[in-house]
Amino acid sequence: MIKIAPSILAADFADMGAAVKKIEKAGADLVHCDVMDGNFVPNITFGPDMIKALKRYTALPLDVHLMIDDPAFYIPIFAKAGADILTFHYELHYKHKPAEMIRLIKENGVKAAIAINPDTEPEGLTEFLPMLDMVLVMSVYPGFGGQSFIPSSLDKIAKIRRKAQELGLDIDIEVDGGINAQNVVDVKKAGANVIVAGTTVFKAPDTAAIIAELKK
Ligand code: DX5
Ligand code: ZN
Repeated sequence: MIKIAPSILAADFADMGAAVKKIEKAGADLVHCDVMDGNFVPNITFGPDMIKALKRYTALPLDVHLMIDDPAFYIPIFAKAGADILTFHYELHYKHKPAEMIRLIKENGVKAAIAINPDTEPEGLTEFLPMLDMVLVMSVYPGFGGQSFIPSSLDKIAKIRRKAQELGLDIDIEVDGGINAQNVVDVKKAGANVIVAGTTVFKAPDTAAIIAELKK
């Protein structure tokens, strides 16, 4: 079963409560929250107080994608704020050991995921797969919504799915960036089951219809 995680990066930042209520009513499965610190990526969005505030507006799980340089410091803070899934970036592995980040997330009672950027190969993730709830494959360079899907992401999704199957693991594979009602078919075939969609969901005239179409 495929899960749809609309990214609120594409919503009206002055009206986030209404945005999450709208997608919940329209059949979304998760709320994808893009946290950017202006260091790891060249953009700044919001922090733990937004997560805490959104909790009052939706019962959907908050899928918090940390595009920040210091996940170790912020993981407990985002957990306390109400994150249900916390994703950090593998590219930081030289200073933040993935196994330690995963342990920290789990100690805080949250589901753990690792993200890889378009230029990062998936092989390095293998040893962590048994500890993870989810892997996030970035299909655009992180930082901004509304970019075009990078086709080489499909091969990476397939590699991760194959490896997980080999290991007998039933983990979620999330794909993030440039997803629309056309390319979602290939993304699903490649082995992804959690679909992030920002622009596609929030710019659609009928939110329930686009979510239903993506799921189908
Ligand atoms: C990019 C973010 C994505 C982005 C997706 O850094 O991680 O979640 O918002 O937006 P669309 O669906 O518009 O590409
Ligand atoms: Zn994201």
